[in-house]
Amino acid sequence: MSEHGNYDNIKEANKGIPVGYVVFFAGTIVWLIWYIVSYTPQISGWSQYKVFDKEMKEAQLTEAKAVKENPYKDNGQAIGEGKALFTANCAACHGENLKGGVGPDLLAEKTIYGDSDSQFYESVAKGRANGMPPFDRQLGPDRIWKVVSFIKSLRSHK
Ligand code: HEC
Repeated sequence: MSEHGNYDNIKEANKGIPVGYVVFFAGTIVWLIWYIVSYTPQISGWSQYKVFDKEMKEAQLTEAKAVKENPYKDNGQAIGEGKALFTANCAACHGENLKGGVGPDLLAEKTIYGDSDSQFYESVAKGRANGMPPFDRQLGPDRIWKVVSFIKSLRSHK
């Protein structure tokens, strides 16, 4: 049975490393080097503070612009979309006809926080102290302006 070099017919089955593994392995090293170079402040000048500052500036600009003027004033289509948004998000508290419920009458002659477009925007975006929830995250400027346009359109036809 024991022919020399024959170990019960057990042979080494070395097929080498699959090419895909080698490519992947090399790729992770390249990526790692790129990552270290890109995100080491001493090498690339990258800094999370710079990124943060830049993002804050951009956000403030957008915000300042958004709160200033209503891009959808008297825009029929936007008012239609605003109506649907109102039904979905606001009617439960302010009533289907805006005449109030849990929340105040939005068609009242005198509103609590003013009734200019930007004051309405502020009420909806930031919320108000006595039970008005903020909607800036949920709706964003675009849709808030549409809701405001809808409310304003009903106020002017009163
Ligand atoms: C959970 C109930 C609730 C929901 C939902 C709600 N509101 Fe209000 N809202 C209130 C209450 C309560 C107030 C009064 C807050 C106060 O007096 O400080 C208010 C105040 C307001 C005001 C200011 C009114 C004024 O007299 O100055 C506006 C404008 C307004 N809401 C619009 C909306 C819009 C638009 C939506 C939907 C996107 C909405 N609200 C959703 C409860 C709600």
